[in-house]
Amino acid sequence: MKNFDTFLELAESRYSVRSFEDRQIDREVVQKMLRAAQVSPTAHNNQPQRIYVLQSEEAIAKVRSLSHYTFNAPTVFMVCADLDAAWHGRDGHNSGQVDAAIAATHMMMTACDEGLGTCWVRGFDKDEIARAFGLPEQYEVVCLLLAGYPSEKAAPLKGWHDKRKRIEEFTQIL
Ligand SMILES: Cc1cc2nc3c(=O)[nH]c(=O)nc-3n(C[C@H](O)[C@H](O)[C@H](O)COP(=O)(O)O)c2cc1C
Repeated sequence: MKNFDTFLELAESRYSVRSFEDRQIDREVVQKMLRAAQVSPTAHNNQPQRIYVLQSEEAIAKVRSLSHYTFNAPTVFMVCADLDAAWHGRDGHNSGQVDAAIAATHMMMTACDEGLGTCWVRGFDKDEIARAFGLPEQYEVVCLLLAGYPSEKAAPLKGWHDKRKRIEEFTQIL
């Protein structure tokens, strides 16, 4: 069953979930999220996104010790960019973070479409987390994407989710 008729309806319904049910997400949903990451656009098609699916007791305990913002999510996707594999522009630009962020956004919206709650988290120290998980030196953690079924307590955070700039404030038509 489709919950949304249009992508915009899906995007409008999304909010950051910070309280989750105490049950794991279905494997098929994890697969769909990874498929969404696979088809996301990347600069020069270099596909530098590197994704760790944290679900074991040990991995979840570790990530919870490294960020105050993991709440009680049963699954945390640690979305990284391989900065060596990413496209480098002549001006020195490295596209890794942008590419990984697009992949994470694809995953986030797919999760929402599947009835999951998500929260994008950047509240961690990138060196600390890389060390703790033994990541290759050229990997940068771009976000922790929390995923789980929203608990009864989950609700959009007042004064944050509802606080939106007017379109004219961030747009110029030239
Ligand atoms: C790059 C980025 C970093 C974020 N970091 C955190 C975080 O560390 N902790 C947290 O609770 N929420 C975090 N968020 C969620 C934002 O606070 C949230 O998206 C924003 O307040 C709008 O609310 P909404 O997602 O409910 O619409 C982050 C979101 C983004 C895109």
